[in-house]
Amino acid sequence: MTLDEAIIARRSIRSYIMEELEPELIDGLVDFLSDLTVPDDSIDWNFDILPLDDMCRLVNGVPRLQAPHYLVIRSEKIKNCLQNAGYIGEMAVLWLTAHGIATCWQGSLEAENDFPDVLPYITCVAFGRSDEPFRTSASEIKKKKKLSAVAYGDMASPRKEIMELTWMAPSCMNMEPVRYLVDTHRIHIYRKNNRILKFNQFNYFQCLDVGAAMAHMEVAAKKYGYRIVFERLSPEPDFRKEIYQASAHLIKEETP
Ligand SMILES: Cc1cc2nc3c(=O)[nH]c(=O)nc-3n(C[C@H](O)[C@H](O)[C@H](O)COP(=O)(O)O)c2cc1C
Repeated sequence: MTLDEAIIARRSIRSYIMEELEPELIDGLVDFLSDLTVPDDSIDWNFDILPLDDMCRLVNGVPRLQAPHYLVIRSEKIKNCLQNAGYIGEMAVLWLTAHGIATCWQGSLEAENDFPDVLPYITCVAFGRSDEPFRTSASEIKKKKKLSAVAYGDMASPRKEIMELTWMAPSCMNMEPVRYLVDTHRIHIYRKNNRILKFNQFNYFQCLDVGAAMAHMEVAAKKYGYRIVFERLSPEPDFRKEIYQASAHLIKEETP
């Protein structure tokens, strides 16, 4: 399965077979993540892959969702670090799905008892084998806003197709806070300016959601022959009252 096929197949899976994955698979994930170019490459980040026992130590208890492995994402805590973490986590989710491995984001877990001398904990994703199936087609996606409710602008092909795969990105509690303004060469990305839910924790999760959507956008663009460079334009392009996050510059790949 390719990463873009994994976008269709992926869903959050919450029951796991408690058997460790083969070391070669874990090594493959480590290599894949180590090769990523994150949206803001100036931010220092890294990751750990922990078994359940170490995760219990880190969160100082037993996580509600128990899986054989947890991808822990760490980063300097500065502007845009959450977008990066969302991007890294979702790229891992797509890579694991493409290899037949089930995943579930675990945004609610907090590191209460972290190891010394490491970058700060940002978030994590549980993964392992499961008896639960992946999706077999996009028609199984339910309980989601329509694409036309989140993406506006010039949706000529292939931008519409790119946006359809981007729209399938997961979000914390399925709140779907990401909005898009599409023009010929750039897709501007916004976070919903939620006037009711102003709690810091929601903002935290929704910045991760933006990063997850950026991962889908990059994979989707590649499928249609485009490379994406993420930029932060100044002055920021306004869109209603939403909070500007980044712009994805679509660059046509040369065909040899
Ligand atoms: C940043 C982020 C954090 C999440 N945190 C949790 C979590 O703590 N627990 C959980 O069960 N699901 C979590 N999820 C999964 C969402 O609930 C799920 O993606 C959403 O309901 C859509 O369902 P789907 O992933 O099956 O498409 C999280 C998803 C994201 C993107």
